[in-house]
Amino acid sequence: MKKIAVFTSGGDAPGMNACIRAAVRGAIYHGLEVYGIRRGYNGMIAGDIFEMGSKSVSNIVQRGGTILKSARSKDFMTPEGRKKAYENLMAHGIEGLVAIGGNGTFTGAEVFYNEYQIPTVGCPGTIDNDLYGTDYTIGFDTAVNTSLEAIDKIRDTADSHDRVFFIEVMGRDSGYIAIQSGIGGGAEIVMVPETHTPLKKVVSTLKEGWNRQKSSSIIVVAEGDEEGHATQIAEKIKEQLGDKLDIRVSTLGHVQRGGSPTAYDRILASRMGLAAVEGLINGQKNVMAGIVNNDLIYTPFIDTIKKQKPIHDDLLRMVHILSI
Ligand code: F6P
Repeated sequence: MKKIAVFTSGGDAPGMNACIRAAVRGAIYHGLEVYGIRRGYNGMIAGDIFEMGSKSVSNIVQRGGTILKSARSKDFMTPEGRKKAYENLMAHGIEGLVAIGGNGTFTGAEVFYNEYQIPTVGCPGTIDNDLYGTDYTIGFDTAVNTSLEAIDKIRDTADSHDRVFFIEVMGRDSGYIAIQSGIGGGAEIVMVPETHTPLKKVVSTLKEGWNRQKSSSIIVVAEGDEEGHATQIAEKIKEQLGDKLDIRVSTLGHVQRGGSPTAYDRILASRMGLAAVEGLINGQKNVMAGIVNNDLIYTPFIDTIKKQKPIHDDLLRMVHILSI
């Protein structure tokens, strides 16, 4: 393998730049030519492909976002889009890909390989931490710390006004950000898509706290919880509790996706970026580089896409015990 390309795709995540840097410098170190593709699969289709040198990734290890930009490509889901992407890669002589992204990115890479046999090694880049085959994904630690900082601030005002706050964090299908920031932020309840928290349980927990003179409460809700978004849940709870409690809602949103990556994310991303390049050199294809128990492993895309990474029961149990 002489020429490879790197791209970022799907929702951006802090640490993606550190991963790009590791892939580019790792490739150059091993004597490969390395190209960048802008805007993920959309750039592959548009031919937005350029050669990257060691200096092109200077001064980015600490930056949030992605210098290669990102997109969720609809065109790559079509055979015509993938054909165009293949032709553009061939025009540059690219023989292997490093894909930094999540589930959608790896699904695209798997389909692409089946049609055109271009090997791809993935790096798990998503704040959601919802990928099987790695303990943590790039950006998750930073997102949790960002949420936690916000929860701490909300706690100050919640306490001053004796209020209940429903705080919504990101996680369409996954409650990892919610559970970790909830435990770290001392939440009374954490609502996640992985388990059902009935509204009557929320009501009874709030009532119990109120009876014990608890003056304020924090409930962290993952955006994908089956009871709905935080605003909807708060409305339903208000209907049941009337004026007894003063309830407010705060949705943290995309603030969780930005910012300078934590040390943990930079190191994780650097390890994975290098592992992806070395994997390609050693003949790996259609696998994601991940870290499990601090060991580097490669997991087939098909498993990272299909298999679930459940939240540890201990964490869910802990929220309840520690909020009494
Ligand atoms: O996948 C990461 C994520 O931040 C999810 O938590 C969230 O549901 C989604 O992306 C939001 O995507 P977009 O920025 O495209 O609205």
